[in-house]
Amino acid sequence: MRILRDRRQLTALCRQWRSREVDRLAFVPTMGNLHAGHLALVRHAREQGHRVVVSVFVNPLQFDRPDDLSRYPRTLEADAKVLAEAGIDALFCPEAAEMYPEHEPVTARVVVSGLSRVLEGESRPGHFDGVATVVAKLFNLVRPDLAVFGEKDYQQLLLIRGMVASLNFPVSVQAVPTVRESDGLALSSRNAQLSPSARARAPELYRCLRDTVEACLLEPDQWPGMFPELLATSEGRLREAGFRPDYLSIRRAEDLGDPEPGDRDLILLAAAWLDGVRLIDNLRLRCGKFAGRA
Ligand code: PAF
Repeated sequence: MRILRDRRQLTALCRQWRSREVDRLAFVPTMGNLHAGHLALVRHAREQGHRVVVSVFVNPLQFDRPDDLSRYPRTLEADAKVLAEAGIDALFCPEAAEMYPEHEPVTARVVVSGLSRVLEGESRPGHFDGVATVVAKLFNLVRPDLAVFGEKDYQQLLLIRGMVASLNFPVSVQAVPTVRESDGLALSSRNAQLSPSARARAPELYRCLRDTVEACLLEPDQWPGMFPELLATSEGRLREAGFRPDYLSIRRAEDLGDPEPGDRDLILLAAAWLDGVRLIDNLRLRCGKFAGRA
């Protein structure tokens, strides 16, 4: 596994691979502190691509709170070990100054209109502009044939797909299902910040989503009229369990628009604080099915 910190070296290596080999170059962007969810993305990339590049970069542009950026876990040595064992070809782990050099201030940003302003975008102003900008920069450095993202960050997945379509990036964006602990909690680097008591309560978020989806599936004829009352009850349940929800919302899976009568492919999305840690999760809500692939 090659470890690169310099963006020019990364581009040169990827260009070399592309010129020598006919097979596909797969890319997995991450912010590190890797867990089994990331490894599922890497596995998918290995199955689909001949060469696999992973980036580990805690992107300052996408953090709306300085304390969140400084608290974000950084475990590069352990990450590099895990990635080498997973058999990837290159790890790109630049310093912030390599991605955003002081003499090259960020003058261009990528804004994906609409999608970047709702739900996560409303709770975390500027977050998705930072995500879209760094992913666009990474795509330009790597020029991958395919890039892999997790369904756990469903809104991010749609945002990247929107950016790729609008700006004609020649990359196929592929999605991998959320990986969960045995108690249902979605894997996230933020889970490590939960105190033991918060960790014990955290799976209630998944259970609440699951029960809400199941209640919807019992009465598909009542969609979407039944949603507001049901969501209010579920939000109350989360509050009773000690969560402070940012949002709990049922949207069209395709574009996160408000569901209209006749829409049958929906998604329930939630973000909630638990003892100072912000958790997000989602479950697909398709008529006649419990959950599915993006
Ligand atoms: O999902 C993440 O870890 C980040 O938002 C990403 C896509 C690596 C961009 O920094």
